[in-house]
Amino acid sequence: MIVLVGSEKGGVGKSTIAAHVAVRLSMTGKPTILIDADPQATSWAWAQARNKYKPDSLRVETTKMTGDIRPGIKDLAASYGHIVVDCGGADSVALRSGMMIAHRLIIPSKVARRDLETLKHVSTLVHTANEKRESEGQSQLLARVVFNMTRALPNFWTRIEGAKKVVESLGLGVCPYPIVERVSYDDTQYQGGTVFDDKTDQKAIDEMERVLKSLLRKENTE
Ligand SMILES: Nc1ncnc2c1ncn2[C@@H]1O[C@H](COP(=O)(O)OP(=O)(O)OP(=O)(O)O)[C@@H](O)[C@H]1O
Ligand SMILES: [Mg+2]
Repeated sequence: MIVLVGSEKGGVGKSTIAAHVAVRLSMTGKPTILIDADPQATSWAWAQARNKYKPDSLRVETTKMTGDIRPGIKDLAASYGHIVVDCGGADSVALRSGMMIAHRLIIPSKVARRDLETLKHVSTLVHTANEKRESEGQSQLLARVVFNMTRALPNFWTRIEGAKKVVESLGLGVCPYPIVERVSYDDTQYQGGTVFDDKTDQKAIDEMERVLKSLLRKENTE
């Protein structure tokens, strides 16, 4: 499976989620590679930190790519069962070309209005990519927004529900499970880990498992 993680907003959790997707897919036993297509190279740095601080943890191969990532992905597909791409937080050739070849696009977003506004253009990109894919007889790219850094407060659900309606009105699907803001995500990411490796925050493990199961399932209808 080829999974892109991208958006047009900085600091919404793309690299964190890409790392969790890569580790979770590695846990299936299939060879998995994480491509860093963001010039900031956060995922690359995460992988370096993983080799340094967590030499005994599940290995995740990593490489960097820029520009049209299709030829590089096609080459890697011969050796890797799963390919995860951190596309960064801007409209780019990497993001657009990746949308033509991926099976899934995960779009992390906060629920704030300013963040939701950036999804308008992402939605246009997804629809344009899907029109092209259809004309080429390819299956559709399944794109889902996942709300990240939410609060575990009862009244926050009203905000999440409101944000969900905004996203759906843009023609994008939404993951039914949000990701709560938890220090364990930040702490583990810094040292090349994920909540799956550290196994100390069970709530985060259960939450991320639920989110990824929903985002990566074959029939993404939930
Ligand atoms: N659910 C969360 N709870 C707490 N901290 C989080 C959560 N998700 C991400 N973070 C932290 O927020 C910061 C930004 O996350 P991350 O680097 O994944 O975002 P990004 O979208 O990739 O940013 P950029 O646009 O700079 O590439 C990091 O320090 C990360 O550890
Ligand atoms: Mg990033």
